Parts: sequence; C-alpha cells; structure tokens
Amino acid sequence: MSAGHMGGRSMAASKGRGAKNPGKTLKRLLKYSFSRYKAAMAFVFVFVLLASAANVFASSRLAVIIKELIVSPEHPVIDASVIWMNIIIMSVIYVVGVLSSFAYNIIMMYIAQGTLKKMRDEMFTKMQYLPLKYFDTHTHGDLMSLYTNDIDTMRQLLSQTIPQMISAALTFIFVFAFMVFYSFTLTLLIIAVLVFMIFIIKNIGKKSAKNFLAQQRALGALNGYVEEMTEGQKVVKVFCHEQKAKENFKVLNDELNVASRDANTYAFILGPINNNLGYLQYVLIAVVGFILTVTGSEIGLLSGFVAMEGGGIACCAGMLVSFLAFSRQFNNPIMQVSQQFNAIVMALAGAERIFEMVDTQPEDKGGDVTLVYGEHEKNKWAWKKPSADGTFEYIPLMGDIRFKDVVFGYTDEKVILKSISLYAKPGQKIAFVGSTGAGKTTITNLINRFYDIQLGEITYDGLDIKSIKKDDLRKSLGVVLQDTHLFTGTVMDNIRYGRLNATDEECVKAAKLANADFFITHLPEGYNTVITGDGANLSQGQRQLLAIARAMVSECPVLILDEATSSIDTRTEKLIEQGMDKLMEGRTVFVIAHRLSTVRNSKAIMVLEHGEIIERGDHEQLLEQKGKYYQLYTGAFELD
Ligand SMILES: Nc1ncnc2c1ncn2[C@@H]1O[C@H](COP(=O)(O)OP(=O)(O)OP(=O)(O)O)[C@@H](O)[C@H]1O
Ligand SMILES: [Mg+2]
Repeated sequence: MSAGHMGGRSMAASKGRGAKNPGKTLKRLLKYSFSRYKAAMAFVFVFVLLASAANVFASSRLAVIIKELIVSPEHPVIDASVIWMNIIIMSVIYVVGVLSSFAYNIIMMYIAQGTLKKMRDEMFTKMQYLPLKYFDTHTHGDLMSLYTNDIDTMRQLLSQTIPQMISAALTFIFVFAFMVFYSFTLTLLIIAVLVFMIFIIKNIGKKSAKNFLAQQRALGALNGYVEEMTEGQKVVKVFCHEQKAKENFKVLNDELNVASRDANTYAFILGPINNNLGYLQYVLIAVVGFILTVTGSEIGLLSGFVAMEGGGIACCAGMLVSFLAFSRQFNNPIMQVSQQFNAIVMALAGAERIFEMVDTQPEDKGGDVTLVYGEHEKNKWAWKKPSADGTFEYIPLMGDIRFKDVVFGYTDEKVILKSISLYAKPGQKIAFVGSTGAGKTTITNLINRFYDIQLGEITYDGLDIKSIKKDDLRKSLGVVLQDTHLFTGTVMDNIRYGRLNATDEECVKAAKLANADFFITHLPEGYNTVITGDGANLSQGQRQLLAIARAMVSECPVLILDEATSSIDTRTEKLIEQGMDKLMEGRTVFVIAHRLSTVRNSKAIMVLEHGEIIERGDHEQLLEQKGKYYQLYTGAFELD
C-alpha cells in the first residue's frame, strides 16, 4: 500500500511542475499544430481581424449618432436619416463581427481536434516502439495522464486560449489606435489605470499559477491512489485495509481540496479586482471626459475625431460615449489574457511531457538478418543474411541458442547475471530452476532482446542475435510469460494473438494440445466467449492454458515457458507435456519452473543462484551431486 502511495507521489512530482523550457515548447507546439493548417490559420487570422475590427468600428459609430442627437444653435434639427444610416451600419458591422468570430472558432476547433488526433496517434505509435526500460521507469498512471490530462490542457490551449490571444492582441491594437485618435488625454488616463491593473494581475497571477501547478500535483496523487486501490481491491479487502485506504484517501483529497481552493481563489479574486478597477476607470474617464467636454478646448485640440467632425460640444459628447465603450473593450483583452495564464502554464507543462515521451529513443530495430519462409527451401524457415556484395546467405532456422560469458544488469549499478554460458541445441529441452530472484526470467528476457546484454554474446543458429532484425527474432520465439496477459476479445482472438493468420481450426488444434479445449467448450459461448478485464472471468490456470495455446499456435522453433504451468494441476500438466513433447520434437524448449516435476524430463537442467549457473546436468546427475538441486528436489536443507 505504501508503494501505491509512493507511486502516486512520484507521478505527481512529474505532473506538478511547470515547463522547463516554456518558450521552446510553445514554439514547437505552435509549429506542430499549425504547420499542417497554414491555409486554415490564414483564414483564422483574417476572421479574428474582422471580428476585432468590427467591435471597434461599431463603437466608433456611437460618436456620430450621439453628435447627431444633440441639438444646439449650430445644429438645430436632428437628421433621422443620419441616425438610421449609422444604426444600420452598426448592425451590419456587428453581424459581420459575430459571423467572423463564429467562423474562426469553428476553424480553430477543427485545427485543435485534428492536431490532438495526430498527437494521440503519434504518442500511441511511439509507445509501441519504446524499449521496456521506459515502462520500467514510468508508472502506468504517468502514461495514462499523457493521454487524458495533458491532451486536455492542450485542447484548451489550442481551441480557446490561442484564438483568444490573437483576438485580444488585435482588439488591443485597434482600440488603442482609435483611442489615441479620439483623445490623447483620456488614453493617457486609461494607460495609467492599466499599468496599475497589470501590476496586480502579475502578482496575483504568479501566485495563482503556482497554486494551479500544486493542484495538478495533488490531482495526480489522488488519481494515482485511486488507480492503485482499484487494482488492488482484493488485497485491500483481504487485509481489511478499507479503513486505512479511506484515511489515506482523505489526506490526499484534503490536499487536493486545499490546493484547488487556493488556486481558484486567486483566479477568482482576479476577476472582481479587475472588474472593479474597470468601473473605477470608467468613472474616471466619464468625469475627466465630462470636464474636458464642458471646458471644450483641450479635447478638441488633441482629438482627431473632433477635428474631423468639426468640433463643438455635441461632437465632444459623442466622442466621449464612444470612448467609454472603447475603454471597456480595451480592458477585455487584458482580462482574457490574464485569465488564460493558468491554462497556458498547464498546457505547456503538459506539452513538454508529451514531447518528452515522443522524443524518447525508440527500441532499436536490430540487425539486417531477416526470417524468410520457403525462399531457401520449400516449406522451410530460414535466416536470410545479406552480405557485402549484395548476395544473400541462407541459414536454416534450427533453434540453436548459445550464451557465451553473458553479463547483464537492468541498471549499470547492479549486475544480475554474472558470466552465464550455456547452449541449447535444436530439439533439446533446457530447464532453469533456482531460488526466487535468481535470474531465470532475466535469461529469457535476453533471448528475445527485451533488454540488451552488457558483455558476452548470445547466438541463434550461429548468428549474433544483435544481427537479427528484432521483429523476426521475436517471430521465431514462442513465449509464455510468467505473468499471463489476456486482451479484451473472444477466446479465439486471444489464441490467435500468437499468429494473426492462424485459421480457426489451427487455433482449436492448439487449444486441444494445450488441453484448453475442454474448459473452453464449457464456457457459455465456447470459443466466442468474450474475455474481459484481463481474464477476470477465468481461473488462473485457465488463463495459463490460453497463454500456452497462444504460444503453440505460433509454431515457433523455439518455445520459452516461464512458469507456464505453475497454476495448472499436475494431471493436466502431464497431458500438456505429452502433447507439447510431440509438437516440439526437433525444436528447442526453455522451461522455467519451481515445481521440479515439471522439469524432470529435461535434457539439461541449469540451477541458477544469484545470477550464476551453479549446477548443470540432467535430473539423475543432479540428484547424485547432492547439491542445490538435490536440496530443492527433496526439500532437504543443510541442517543435518
Ligand atoms: N525490470 C527490472 N528492472 C530491474 N531489476 C529487475 C527487473 N526485473 C527483475 N529484476 C531483478 O533481477 C533479479 C532477477 O529477477 P528474475 O525475474 O530474473 O528472477 P527469477 O529467477 O525469474 O525469479 P522468480 O522465480 O521469482 O520468477 C531480481 O533480483 C530482480 O530484482
Ligand atoms: Mg521469473
């Protein structure tokens, strides 16, 4: 349980940090998203431009309408046609604005969704080619959150934040230009308030972003814990840890509560503060504007609009009304940007994590020796080795595997296998036995190149396994892993996983060999029964039978069985063994088992201890030696 807690923490640690290099990440993200949509982005830009301009131009019409509405000695009658004309112009401009904003939002949504689809595709494809080492060092929670949380922050950035930022920038520029044109004095006043606003936004924003990251961290920890506890429900129940689990959850949930409360408090404080400052600004402009209008002179002197419209108090009043509308439009973009700040921080952190995964060095593809069927000899598999002069050499696939002084450790710090040498000739059954953690599974991990050795050499039919293309190498090995995994799908699909082009008959035949046929035919839908949740509706032994059938259907010259029959009763195991011996005649089999009756009839049994082969020989020879194997077999200890 504490491990689960830790898992959540470690994931949270990577989740809760900001981007290390936000500038570079943003640049890459923009390039990644928009390089495919250059034309669409041009349209977005045009529509945003139209939408921002429309708002500003429409507001500027107010000045003309107000001016017309004010009756004075110089302007004794109101010309209704001028007013109607301007109202119609305003409406048309607004409609254009609304349509444009609708258009760019739709386009951006398409771009964002398309980009995210591409990103998910790339992430998943990449994940298929990552070396196992990557999965050893990243939790499932970490990987899952790339597809969920991080993608989601990116969706918000692309579909909302970025268009809002463009629109904010353009609106800002337009409004600013109009304001300067209308009144220089009032613009200065607005800027003064603005500087004050930015100061506050910056200070609160910083706190808020920090808290948002803390919220992500707490959310990561909570999710990790829930995932861990869901997977471990049975263990929780068996050890009556429900109460403890609840308490642990409560702690994490409280942390999340506090973190999100703080994060959102700062975010929400920002809104009202900005709003109030906005009102203050409004009032200031109204008062100062009114004074300027009444006293007349100053505005007239400094305003392009007033000069253009011929001056007078009516003109100044019209200008003031438009200006008040501008002041609101001027603050909006700044508020929008400040509200999007957290989204940007989180999205960049997410994007960086995704790029990190996508950039991870993929598993290398191996050498250029390939596996071919029927090319060299009819109905026979062979290794096809290209030589320097462009010709090919064919080496029949036999299944001869040798280890020469192999040294290996999962990390450089700790050596697991110390100078292992062994050979398995075609047709031989080689067994590994030894204490838990001795390195049996590790040896099989090396044959299929899940990991690469540090020293020594492993050969396959005389070829260095590094010279063989990894896919082809693995194709030639039928493996039953120590932890069986079944996929969602029918029983038949799960068997066919061993060889995708196997016919139904071949799958059934393999199932019969694996003695799985009996239980499968008793399932409600037989071979069409759908397996769910990693085989939750099957017994442990039944899962192993399916895994064996899956390996059998692959018809490989080399079979690796890692504790493949550990959960199967000994009678069924015997039956499988007989079937398998017949099938594997002339082929190589590696068997790992703790149950020594399983390995008795092996050609050679290797006893492993602390990564070394300490004894080897067949069953009788090993018993005679009275060493470790004798102890394991008879259960005798060195007590006597
Ligand atoms: N992915 C891994 N990363 C780091 N160390 C590992 C990894 N897998 C195994 N080890 C270490 O390698 C050693 C050998 O493990 P291995 O799985 O080969 O044992 P085993 O003989 O198969 O044991 P068992 O009988 O329990 O299956 C162990 O000490 C283990 O801690
Ligand atoms: Mg093992």
